[in-house]
Amino acid sequence: MTVDDEAPERLTYDEPDYSDEVGVHVTGQSKAAGSASPFGGERHPDPCSLVMFGVTGDLAHRKLIPALYDLGCHGVLPFGTTLVGYGRQEMTDDQFRDLMRTAIDDHYGEEVVDGSQCDRLLMAPRYVQGQFDDPEGFKRLAAVLDELDGKGARGNRMFYLATPPSQFEVLIEQLGEAGLARPGAFDGEHGPDGARGWTRVVVEKPFGRDLETARELNRVIGQVFDERQVYRIDHYLAKETVQNLLVLRFANGIFEPVWNRRYVDFVEITAAETLGVEHRGPYYEEAGALRDMITPHLIQLFSLVAMEPPAAFDADAVRDEKMKVLRAVRPIPLHSLEDWAVRAQYVQGRVEGEDVPAYHSEERVAPDSYTETYAALKLVIDNWRWQGVPFYLRTGKRLARRVTEIAIHFKRPPVALFRDAQAGGGVQPNVLILRVQPDEGFSLNIESKQPGHSVALQPVSMDFSYGVTLHELPFSAYETVLVDAMEGDMTLFTRGDQAEEAWRIVGPVLEAWAIRPERDISIYEAGTWGPEAADALIARDGHSWRRPVKGVET
Ligand code: BG6
Repeated sequence: MTVDDEAPERLTYDEPDYSDEVGVHVTGQSKAAGSASPFGGERHPDPCSLVMFGVTGDLAHRKLIPALYDLGCHGVLPFGTTLVGYGRQEMTDDQFRDLMRTAIDDHYGEEVVDGSQCDRLLMAPRYVQGQFDDPEGFKRLAAVLDELDGKGARGNRMFYLATPPSQFEVLIEQLGEAGLARPGAFDGEHGPDGARGWTRVVVEKPFGRDLETARELNRVIGQVFDERQVYRIDHYLAKETVQNLLVLRFANGIFEPVWNRRYVDFVEITAAETLGVEHRGPYYEEAGALRDMITPHLIQLFSLVAMEPPAAFDADAVRDEKMKVLRAVRPIPLHSLEDWAVRAQYVQGRVEGEDVPAYHSEERVAPDSYTETYAALKLVIDNWRWQGVPFYLRTGKRLARRVTEIAIHFKRPPVALFRDAQAGGGVQPNVLILRVQPDEGFSLNIESKQPGHSVALQPVSMDFSYGVTLHELPFSAYETVLVDAMEGDMTLFTRGDQAEEAWRIVGPVLEAWAIRPERDISIYEAGTWGPEAADALIARDGHSWRRPVKGVET
């Protein structure tokens, strides 16, 4: 669940306005009516009690609390919203406030944090000490929530499970036992007990570790919550370019007609990281790259690229289409697994000019570990749109560059009119590259004539960059998911059946790898683009992986 360090997002410091009445718990500056939503309109989440489990953990420290602060700075958090921490550690409300302040300072740098905004965010957070399986702790939590309902939360409660996944089930059960799940009291409806307000639960990844455990987790959740209360997070879906993918495809007339087997040659989806496993050795040893990145994030990106146009831009319509395309993914043939899936582990090397150790020498990693830090997968879809078009997914730690992108490679023109016009060979195929991070934006690589008397071709890139065009980066992914959940917009969250379907696709590969862990694993030097076996996988189909260089489209 840990995510890497990011450069501080943009902050705005409007004149603070303390005109709200006493009892404001979390509130942004009141001059702004709200902040713009990625899909138009302003963001106006309901006030709520935001209960965070795992509040002393890495995710809360590095992502969630800084995201809340930035939302507060943008006036997005309404009066009456209170952060409630629940944890095993003994802590007073004041100590909890200090913990939050440290997280904000660590993320943004103490010198740039707006003290008055911070004071407002941290005016009255609450902390409840309790074991995760202790009914008494949940009773204390319920009492605090009742109190906050009368102070502006209006009966709205959001439970955020930011703990290790091993704690999800017990937390869900305890919420149920304590009567905090209020079954039936979801958006716009009153529960059978007449309860007002909504109750939502946000579940972090990983969602299970295979099909069976994902099913079991869905079953436990389903006994306590209605599916319409459940927000399974995939923070990748909240990244700006990922959302822009839908706009690009469905708000423009020119892309959809060529978005199919007739024009698309193959698709690459890459999530390359330069970071290693940091201090997350024990988690990563259990997970590996396929579980950590491909099952939750890359398969979601894949389904957005490949799905049919939804009938409406709403959560059900979008999620139905994603589900249909996942169901159409052909089972990976295990008899020729190396043609479909590759795994590898990094050995020592140099990343961004620094020497880095091998994975098996990382903190709290077994010296003889066979956990993969790189995984590549080829998927094909048995439907009319995509028959015969391979989709290649790859991810890895300690690669040459941090880059997440989707590259749609188009077929060459049917007639080679300019065969001799380009030094070094034929016309380069067009590639549409959606840069998810960094340098969010997209590029279309096309052929152009070099200026001069002769007809000589050169590839050029038509480029759109958020940083250059809009000067300001949009909300971070965690800000987006927090506000979406508070607003009850489920579009960017994974539905239970999708989570299971992703495991249906990758599960057999994981099982096959588990049978002979030592046999199937390759190595790659840290700081490179991954193992030769992955190059061979894509080369067998006559293609090669992109090797994006910073600032240059290749
Ligand atoms: C997390 C993974 O889900 O995503 C991490 O557990 C990974 O291993 C992270 O580093 C990457 O997220 P981002 O947003 O930095 O690309």
